[in-house]
Amino acid sequence: MKWKNNFSVQSDWTDVIVNREAKEAIARKLAERAKEGETIGAGSGSTVYLTLEALAERIRKENLHITVIPASFESTMACLRFGIPLTTLWEKRPDWTFDGADEVDPEHNLLKGRGGALFQEKLLIRSSKEVYIVVDESKFVSRLGTNFPVPVELFPGALAYVENCIWELGATEVTLRPAKGKDGPVITENGNLILDVRFEQLSADLERKIKAVTGVIESGLFMGYCLKIISLNR
Ligand code: 5RP
Repeated sequence: MKWKNNFSVQSDWTDVIVNREAKEAIARKLAERAKEGETIGAGSGSTVYLTLEALAERIRKENLHITVIPASFESTMACLRFGIPLTTLWEKRPDWTFDGADEVDPEHNLLKGRGGALFQEKLLIRSSKEVYIVVDESKFVSRLGTNFPVPVELFPGALAYVENCIWELGATEVTLRPAKGKDGPVITENGNLILDVRFEQLSADLERKIKAVTGVIESGLFMGYCLKIISLNR
């Protein structure tokens, strides 16, 4: 039996990408970095989607042999849609990874996870030799936490315990992320829940302390990582 994979699934945001023109220009800029034979990690979000589209165009036109390790179902679907060959972290280590971000501070610390794929994105970033973060100008903030809370992914059975520990770490607001368009909480691709948490101060120490709580899978804080920011002007 022939295995068909001509999916026509489209993410609900692809028609309404905010700052689309800027993101397309950044996507083309990053796609230029790809070289023959490379394995590339892809995070998720609309900028990643546009970068995958730009990468697919180069692969097609230049007949490049490039494989991608996606960090989410959404990015997996995008690769299938654009005809980009896939591989996994079990088989390959990425030569480099690219991802978007929700906020970037002057020291290049990141806040991520609005799309809920933070755990696999962090895993991919940690596994890569080099990391590029593709962001339009709206993502630059003087202080992380300006526009968004910190997402914390956790094992569902640990909800009460984790929430209490998060309050003890100095949270000022804790919200269980609701599912879009239906009752109940959002369930991540890993079968977990997400708490969106506001803190007065965000730091690398706080990232470590959140991670140390039993039941926490990962947080959306990426503090002090070695990564390069790619935007229109940088
Ligand atoms: C998902 C993320 C995304 O990278 C972040 O939300 C950026 O998205 P976009 O490129 O659509 O602005 O962290 O978990």
